[in-house]
Amino acid sequence: MKADKPVHLSPRAAVEGQTAIPRHIAIVMDGNGRWAKKRFMPRVVGHGQGVDTLVKTVLACADRGIEYLTVFAFSSENWKRPSDEVSGLMGLVLVAVSKHLTKLASVGVRIRIVGDRSQVSDKVRGAWLEAESRTEHNSRITLSVAFNYGGRWDVIQACQQAVKDGLTADQITEDSLASRMAMSYAPDPDLFIRTGGETRISNFLLWQSAYSELVFTDCLWPEFGEAELDHALAEFARRDRRFGGVKVSADEPTHSA
Ligand code: IPE
Ligand code: IPE
Ligand code: MG
Repeated sequence: MKADKPVHLSPRAAVEGQTAIPRHIAIVMDGNGRWAKKRFMPRVVGHGQGVDTLVKTVLACADRGIEYLTVFAFSSENWKRPSDEVSGLMGLVLVAVSKHLTKLASVGVRIRIVGDRSQVSDKVRGAWLEAESRTEHNSRITLSVAFNYGGRWDVIQACQQAVKDGLTADQITEDSLASRMAMSYAPDPDLFIRTGGETRISNFLLWQSAYSELVFTDCLWPEFGEAELDHALAEFARRDRRFGGVKVSADEPTHSA
């Protein structure tokens, strides 16, 4: 696996370095509530089903050579939900870690949590710490779980860190902020998938997805499977990523200044 440091390709290098397989996939796992509602079940049952889908998706991504998978599990705005749903989601973290951590750790998944931990309970913080510490030496795939995460929060905390580090105004640069963002250990997502039919970002990786390829699917997250993943990968392979540059074809004359 490549070194855990920010990868900043120049636009030109990024165009030339384009590969058919994304290094990093980000997913907004949306549609759990509607999946449950269709079955006349409480929304939290949909979230539980969503955890099982997540575990299968991590393994499917690892099998396909994806190095980083980042999933949106709880947004900084999801606190607005009814308190029974919020507490159900917090409880699910504990269940998910005790049910799946051993398996994920044994197959080489490294787990990282991104988001503001200060607002979650000691129990949830403890479960996240356990997941991170038991998998820290794994390198097959890095699963980042965005929990109490917001793209705006991330930019703000990076700026706050820069101030605490004593940076001057002209030291505030793309690189100095990127190295303080919550996911500075990973390259930016190449492919950004949202399930559940909504075509919005909902405050996920705002900074990091500047040049991600977006794929939206109506599939509800609990129903997401290998076929949907492969469909998104095929769509990604068809995309022409230019990063603001232009594609120069082999038979076109180039002019250097
Ligand atoms: C996404 O599913 C999971 C979380 C936000 C925690 P939703 O709960 O938003 O499901 P829908 O969009 O209501 O169907
Ligand atoms: C985004 O889904 C957050 C997660 C999947 C965790 P939401 O369901 O919260 O987003 P909106 O409210 O439809 O924008
Ligand atoms: Mg939703």
